[in-house]
Amino acid sequence: MGGSVSGGRRGGALYHGDCLEVLAALPPRRRFDLAYLDPPFATQTLFGARQERGERSRGETAYRDVFPSVDAWAAVMRPRLVAIGARLSAQGSLWLHLDHRLVHDAKCLCDALFGRAAFRGEVIWVPGNGARGGHGPRVTHQTLLIYAPHGDLLWNAAHASLREPYAEISQQRHFRHVDADGRRYRERVVRGKAYRYFADVGRVRSSVWDDCPAMRANTPRSRETTGYPTQKPEALLERVLHAATNEGSWVLDPMCGSGTTLAVARRLGRRFVGIDSSPVAARVASERLSIPAEIIGVTRRARPRARRPPRSG
Ligand SMILES: C[S@@+](CC[C@H](N)C(=O)[O-])C[C@H]1O[C@@H](n2cnc3c(N)ncnc32)[C@H](O)[C@@H]1O
Repeated sequence: MGGSVSGGRRGGALYHGDCLEVLAALPPRRRFDLAYLDPPFATQTLFGARQERGERSRGETAYRDVFPSVDAWAAVMRPRLVAIGARLSAQGSLWLHLDHRLVHDAKCLCDALFGRAAFRGEVIWVPGNGARGGHGPRVTHQTLLIYAPHGDLLWNAAHASLREPYAEISQQRHFRHVDADGRRYRERVVRGKAYRYFADVGRVRSSVWDDCPAMRANTPRSRETTGYPTQKPEALLERVLHAATNEGSWVLDPMCGSGTTLAVARRLGRRFVGIDSSPVAARVASERLSIPAEIIGVTRRARPRARRPPRSG
């Protein structure tokens, strides 16, 4: 089936199908600088679709997140991770978003598939929507594992979204000089060479991201809420894209749900391919992006419903 879909020649495409099948059908030369993957977390839940803007469930299943064992989950993910890795550019990265239930198994799985050296770090995302877990420590974060399977990593370290303000006390103590333009700075000499650090540039952002609240994507009256369960906030994806892609980069979300990654990619001038096997996801993402979802290898009965008129506000 390789090479039988256009893969978004005009800048973006959405597919309804299993990502394994769709990836095999993309043009052979299509390579992505970023693949963001937010798969089922094995929560043993049937996620229901909700009405527009996250109000009451209407009894429709969006997707099944039920796996009898970790091995069953890994058996689904293994060939898909390999297929995604094979579609990355020389400096492309794969960001795998999970929580405490599976992230450690996923780390071992990805190390085995891509090599330990391909692991380039992780981001701890704090959604700010309460704690998970029973008796024992409560878990208030999720984890994004970052792999660069082909050796190089596109990383925009200087981008403003990867900087944060210096601590107040550090600003007072260390940034005592002011240059001709009125900018506060400190100077440090390392091995005989002087380096100047400006207060307004800030320091490298920590790997704990607690300023992209999940509520923005899950609150009924929020602009970006689609009602799709487990929708991620655009601010989180914005930072991921600023870090690991450039304008014009190709971005892949092989399990795109409501299309958050794709909406952000388009807004930031990136090109995208989004895939989801759920008919509800295909319909929601299609409405969100105002592009049709091309059906690949699933029954015609599952065809997404016609687009409804755009929402106001
Ligand atoms: C956690 S949700 C993604 C949510 C998304 N990040 C958002 O912001 O809306 C996981 C998605 O993976 C999809 N999925 C699961 N297995 C898949 C497969 N083999 N191919 C494509 N999509 C799949 C599900 O239908 C579900 O929409």
